[in-house]
Amino acid sequence: MDMDMCMCCKFIWLIIMFFYGTLIFMFGIGFNEPTFSIERFYVPALDNISNDTLNPFIFVDLQLINPNDQQTVHYSALNVSIFYGQQNKSSPILLPNVAVVSIPGFNQESSDIAHRLEMVTATGVDWETARQEVLNGTTVFQVDLQTKLRYEQFIWKTKRFSIMVGGDVKVNDQGSMVKTKKKGVKLTSGSIRHVVHFGYVAGSVGFVLLSLWS
Ligand SMILES: *[C@@H]1O[C@H](CO)[C@@H](O)[C@H](O)[C@H]1NC(C)=O
Ligand SMILES: *[C@@H]1O[C@H](CO)[C@@H](O)[C@H](O)[C@H]1NC(C)=O
Ligand SMILES: *[C@@H]1O[C@H](CO)[C@@H](O)[C@H](O)[C@H]1NC(C)=O
Ligand SMILES: *[C@@H]1O[C@H](CO)[C@@H](O)[C@H](O)[C@H]1NC(C)=O
Ligand SMILES: *[C@@H]1O[C@H](CO)[C@@H](O)[C@H](O)[C@H]1NC(C)=O
Repeated sequence: MDMDMCMCCKFIWLIIMFFYGTLIFMFGIGFNEPTFSIERFYVPALDNISNDTLNPFIFVDLQLINPNDQQTVHYSALNVSIFYGQQNKSSPILLPNVAVVSIPGFNQESSDIAHRLEMVTATGVDWETARQEVLNGTTVFQVDLQTKLRYEQFIWKTKRFSIMVGGDVKVNDQGSMVKTKKKGVKLTSGSIRHVVHFGYVAGSVGFVLLSLWS
């Protein structure tokens, strides 16, 4: 009889673990999204010292942080698009896309900070206006990032989650990004998931269940 009870309990644990695994897989519960930021952004054509007004390149330093202390993040190709100007949220007119680069996907270990340095060719920037603007102060480029990622912990891997983030980079008359308090520009989204806090709870409960089971 005792034996049966025990089997029954184990069976229930098994079902709970199955659902827990499914939740992890479906919603990435218990995982924190990496943070993306632009740490350097240099536009030689706007640099008043180099006076290299025909230079079509933009240099970008993208920083990726995996904040999870146990999970690896697997990134698919990271697609970066640069737009000239600042999007007016209440206007349907889209900014001109001046550069696109696809950075190869990679795996990022837990708690790791990675950088990707890219040199892109910008086309379609209204350089005259941009130069006038920097003489007055700053001009703005919008940087968007799209990728897909999955998390891995132990033997578990989640499905792929879509990431769409972006930020406005202000550039001065030295062609460099303006940093506030020496910080880069964080790329943010209208939130892909809303379950991070619940995720912590679910993750902890799952961990306890896992410990009891084994
Ligand atoms: C470039 O801009 C900086 C900062 O505004 C200024 O100090 C410097 O004199 C300028 N250089 C030239 C060559 O215009
Ligand atoms: C920049 O180049 C233009 C033309 O090439 C020149 O007239 C101007 O004096 C240069 N400015 C500086 C600061 O070197
Ligand atoms: C944004 O667009 C709206 C409507 O088109 C306009 O009224 C507003 O002045 C614009 N704001 C800026 C900052 O350009
Ligand atoms: C630069 O500032 C002046 C004076 O404030 C203004 O008249 C001019 O339109 C500005 N130019 C640009 C490109 O913003
Ligand atoms: C990134 O770009 C590549 C090539 O253009 C495309 O195949 C892929 O679907 C894009 N990925 C995302 C997440 O948009």
